[in-house]
Amino acid sequence: MSNDLAEHLKYFSEIGVSGVSRDPAWRKRTDPASASPAGDAEAASPETLPVETLLGPRVTETAPGGDVKADTVLAELKVEIGPDCTRCKLAGLGRRQVVFGVGNPRARLMFVGEAPGEDEDKQGEPFVGRAGQLLTKIIEAISLSRDQVYIANVIKCRPPGNRNPEPDEVAACEPFLFRQIDAVRPRVIVALGKFATQCLLRTADPITRLRGKEFEYRGATLIPTFHPAYLLRNPPAKREVWEDMKKVRAILQADSRP
Ligand code: URA
Repeated sequence: MSNDLAEHLKYFSEIGVSGVSRDPAWRKRTDPASASPAGDAEAASPETLPVETLLGPRVTETAPGGDVKADTVLAELKVEIGPDCTRCKLAGLGRRQVVFGVGNPRARLMFVGEAPGEDEDKQGEPFVGRAGQLLTKIIEAISLSRDQVYIANVIKCRPPGNRNPEPDEVAACEPFLFRQIDAVRPRVIVALGKFATQCLLRTADPITRLRGKEFEYRGATLIPTFHPAYLLRNPPAKREVWEDMKKVRAILQADSRP
């Protein structure tokens, strides 16, 4: 328990949150009624916003206009891809399984990474290794949990030796990601790292130039940020990711207001 707390505080300090206070007035901000005023995302600590504020009003099971439910579409898509997909050469290059995507089919926030790594290939779920554990903390830093967001990758099979996905592999696989995005219809997409950002935005611009900007993408606001694996190698960059996540939080919060 105290280890958990120490790790939590260490993470917040690493990502640039300046501290907590013993002042009872500070604690009071956890009360939804006293949450920070509109647009004051900077003033709110990660724990101060009620989860409902970030999740917003999208609680209905059926999309507007009576569309088929997102969970049905995703389940059908998973079946269509199949457990032994051979649409690209990765099937013959040692991948154990197709890693589809995970989370809330109606999430308002979606994360898109590059490709499964070794842990994901073993467990069949995106972002479960060390980088994934850091991503989980990043999600929790804006008071959400993994099962409230949706997480997927540009390609669904592990490239050998964790090399970058190749253009033919991306071409075969990314239409399924697009269909996942169109099924979930998130308000915000966070593109994790250079590869996912460049793929989605069809650009060769470096991540250092793309990060810090917002893009309109398939009906969502796309926010590029650094990949958690990069953060493991370069911890000071967590501050920039925290800036990006505060932007994400502000968009979700603003969107949930009547
Ligand atoms: N890196 C990614 O881009 N995706 C994963 O699922 C895991 C690590």
